[in-house]
Amino acid sequence: MLEIKTASLEDEQDIFRLVRELADAVGFAEQSPLIDIGIWSRTLEKMLSSPDWVFLIAREGGEAVGLLIFFIRPTLASGLNRATITEMVVTEQARGKGVGRRLIEEAKRIALERGCTIFDVSTELDNAGAEGFYSKMGFTRRRNYYEAQL
Ligand SMILES: CC(C)(COP(=O)(O)OP(=O)(O)OC[C@H]1O[C@@H](n2cnc3c(N)ncnc32)[C@H](O)[C@@H]1OP(=O)(O)O)[C@@H](O)C(=O)NCCC(=O)NCCS
Repeated sequence: MLEIKTASLEDEQDIFRLVRELADAVGFAEQSPLIDIGIWSRTLEKMLSSPDWVFLIAREGGEAVGLLIFFIRPTLASGLNRATITEMVVTEQARGKGVGRRLIEEAKRIALERGCTIFDVSTELDNAGAEGFYSKMGFTRRRNYYEAQL
C-alpha cells in the first residue's frame, strides 16, 4: 500500500538517493557531479528543522518511491502564503501509477492548512514530461523565470 509521510532526518539516505535520481532525470547530475556529503547533510538538517520547509516521502511496501519538497513563504501582495515546489521525483519503476498525483494532493492539503493560496513550481525548459504532469495536476503556465549565476 502506498503511504505518504512527512520525512525526518532518519530518511536522509532515501532523500539523498531520490534527489540524485531527480538530478539524473533532469540532467543536473553532469553539471554538479561532486557533492560534499558533509555540506549536503548540514543543509538537509537545516531545511528539515525549519517550519517553512515540507518534505514528503512516498513509500510502497516500505521502499521510498517518491519525494516532494516544498517551502512556504508569505507574500506582501496579498499578505497570504505561497507554496513553492523545489524537488519532485518518482522512481523510474514507480512512475505512471499515481504516486506523483498522491504526493501533489498531500502537498496541496498541507499547503492549504498552512494558509497558502497559491502553489507554484518551475521546470526545465526541455522537461515536457513534467509539463504534462503539472498540467494534469491543475497547474497552468503563468510567467517567465530568470536566474543569474553568482
Ligand atoms: C513527473 C513525475 C513526478 C510524475 O510522477 P508519476 O507518479 O509518474 O505521475 P502519476 O502517475 O501520478 O500521473 C498523474 C497524471 O499525470 C500524467 N502524467 C504523468 N507523467 C506524465 C508525462 N510525462 N506526460 C504527460 N502526462 C503525464 C498521468 O497520465 C496522470 O494523468 P491521469 O491521472 O489523468 O491518468 C515523474 O514522471 C518523474 O519523477 N519524472 C522525472 C523527474 C521530474 O521531471 N520531476 C519534475 C520536475 S521538478
